[in-house]
Amino acid sequence: MQTAVPIRVDYEQPGAAGACSTHQAWARVPAEPTQAERAALKTRIRELLKARNAVMVSHYYVHPDLQDLAEETGGLVSDSLEMARFGRDHAAQTLVVSGVRFMGETAKILSPEKRVLMPDLDATCSLDLGCPAAEFSAFCDAHPDRTVVVYANTSAAVKARADWLVTSSCALDIVRALKERGQKILWAPDRHLGGYIQRETGADMVFWNGACIVHDEFKAFELQALKAEHPGARVLVHPESPADVVALADAVGSTSGILKAAREMDAKKFIVATDNGMMHKLRTLNPGKVFIEAPTAGNSATCKSCAHCPWMAMNGLAGLAQVLETGANEISVDAALGQRARLPIDRMLAFTEALKAGRPVAGLVPNIGAA
Ligand code: 13P
Ligand code: SF4
Repeated sequence: MQTAVPIRVDYEQPGAAGACSTHQAWARVPAEPTQAERAALKTRIRELLKARNAVMVSHYYVHPDLQDLAEETGGLVSDSLEMARFGRDHAAQTLVVSGVRFMGETAKILSPEKRVLMPDLDATCSLDLGCPAAEFSAFCDAHPDRTVVVYANTSAAVKARADWLVTSSCALDIVRALKERGQKILWAPDRHLGGYIQRETGADMVFWNGACIVHDEFKAFELQALKAEHPGARVLVHPESPADVVALADAVGSTSGILKAAREMDAKKFIVATDNGMMHKLRTLNPGKVFIEAPTAGNSATCKSCAHCPWMAMNGLAGLAQVLETGANEISVDAALGQRARLPIDRMLAFTEALKAGRPVAGLVPNIGAA
């Protein structure tokens, strides 16, 4: 794999409080409410959602309470692609996004007229932290002949430099279409997802060198051993995982792809290499099946996350109730920046909608820097 930039590890650098940003995030994870507190908070949130004409949009990695409440109140639990689409299309004027900051920003870029609130605005992502806009812009300037394809897990400023946005559920289809049109690709920021897309499509790609602290920790050697302990188990892997882990997968996919595979595959046991927040939906939707977490431990383990994203974990019921009550933690995106950042997001949404409807997509792929 060609890597044109040094590794950025800002999330490991000491932050203002002297701790690295993952430790700071863990320190901000809200305490589990008691049963009585939980029930009271849920009741209050239901009332506030109605009173504020608001809808919840939650990711599969957040606390089960925030997933269940979203569904129960007419909101959505999904992967990052469907969160963006749902937020754009829903009539509610306030979106309450439980997830990480790029998800809230994407919702705001797609609906600048709506109010987008998040339980904690400091819930970020190692991919976003590891791809600062100025350095990324210089990387793009150094490769003017390449189509810039950026993963959703980035800031609005990075999106504003992109030709295309992708999520893990549509990256393969979009890069394949770009390759068919003779385009060479600049990919950022996740090196593992980028490597997977390159191996699958054979596209000509240069890579930013970022990683997800959760998926980067899955270990192939220990996964082999776990597979041997459970011979009938199928392995489901998110493509943000290292190549040697992906190589052991029976199915590779986004969070919604993993859910689909678990539902459709003819097996009773699964080993799952993704954030363990996913276990809630996997288990509730597949009551007869067993789901085992893929190993993050082992000789070389540093375990910053232990299979759970500290920033996703910062979302809680109390924070959600508070932002609905007060209107605090509103996402704002500069209007001009938002307009430019919207272009690659709109392209992705139009492409995936056409693909789903069986319409031709070639006309949706502009001729950017083609050889
Ligand atoms: P999905 O798009 O698969 O939901 O992934 C988002 C994410 O942050 C994975 O770590
Ligand atoms: Fe980012 Fe990884 Fe957390 Fe997803 S799980 S939000 S990619 S750090």
